[in-house]
Amino acid sequence: MNGLNEFLDAHPDSLEHDLKSMSMWDESPEFELLPPWDEQQQCRKILEQLRIAAQATVGALVVFEPGRQRYLFRAAFGLTCSESAICNLIWAHVGKFRDDFVNRQQPTVFNRHAFQQQPLFDFERRLGFQSFCFQPLIVDHKIIGGALLGNRQTVVDFSQRDLKHLEQLAPVTSGELERIRLYKELKGLFIHSVHAFVSAIDAKDPYTHGHSERVTDYALKMGRILGWGAEMLEALRMSAILHDVGKIGVPELILSKPSALTTDEFFQIKRHPEIGAKIVGEIPQLKATLSGILFHHERFDGQGYPRGLEGENIPLFGRLIAVADAYDAMTSDRPYRKGLKPDQAFKELNSNRGTQFDPQMVDAFVLAHQQGAIVQ
Ligand SMILES: [Fe+2]
Repeated sequence: MNGLNEFLDAHPDSLEHDLKSMSMWDESPEFELLPPWDEQQQCRKILEQLRIAAQATVGALVVFEPGRQRYLFRAAFGLTCSESAICNLIWAHVGKFRDDFVNRQQPTVFNRHAFQQQPLFDFERRLGFQSFCFQPLIVDHKIIGGALLGNRQTVVDFSQRDLKHLEQLAPVTSGELERIRLYKELKGLFIHSVHAFVSAIDAKDPYTHGHSERVTDYALKMGRILGWGAEMLEALRMSAILHDVGKIGVPELILSKPSALTTDEFFQIKRHPEIGAKIVGEIPQLKATLSGILFHHERFDGQGYPRGLEGENIPLFGRLIAVADAYDAMTSDRPYRKGLKPDQAFKELNSNRGTQFDPQMVDAFVLAHQQGAIVQ
């Protein structure tokens, strides 16, 4: 920490230059934090590929959840039964044919003739299947999911050619599903690490314990009220949780000082948005979070810091987090004062609407509160 301060003191222009050269405060439509991956959409695409390969008219895709020994629904077409019924159905098939699947990695098929002779498949008959097959999706000798494909037309059996196509496509499909799973796992791990890191920073000041988590919670609720999409909300989540990360560069004695700050101490605190942006700016995947970190202390009337930006020149994340941050700061106890009651804090937000805060963001916060989303 001291090393960082010493570096910044010795290179006063370095931070300024780096921040400018990054031109980081445009909310980019492409959030690097979240590649344009929509799991549901990906799974629908995978199932569509399998449907075409097997020339099926109905189908479903599930993935295996090893910890809980069950299947999770991912996509379906042409089926009218519930998602859980689909998962149970596939679970039953996998139970019956597990060894066969892993050893042969081939689809198991029940064409009309074989199908009609199997009393076990009453459910499939009720769904109107004339024939069906199950293609296991396997990675490293483990079943990671599977596709149930069926035909409802009366004269359609799966041909050897259909099954060959399905079998050829299965390894590619398995690889895609595994990639989605690994991506989710990595993202979860990353978010968990960031939260742990931020909690450690919040702990530097016992009076702001849990502050970043609460600000993140409020910010997401506001973002949803504003109708922001999943990718933007994901970037907002990281921006809000990291908004005060620059406090790592502010001495603890100042952060937890029980009395009023001197001009010099306040100057040091005011550096935290830029220090935070400098730290996070080193991580390309977090580029989309920078505007919230750097600009959450700007004011709508241009009297804020570090840039004194005004109105809509302040990036959206900065304007939004400013409201969530101020509400939490007002309602939290400080060494030198007791926290305000929520209704008093709302009054403050409203009376500073259009001066300190973006009116649109205050409205979003108030609406989130009216809908019961803000509880503190
Ligand atoms: Fe801050």
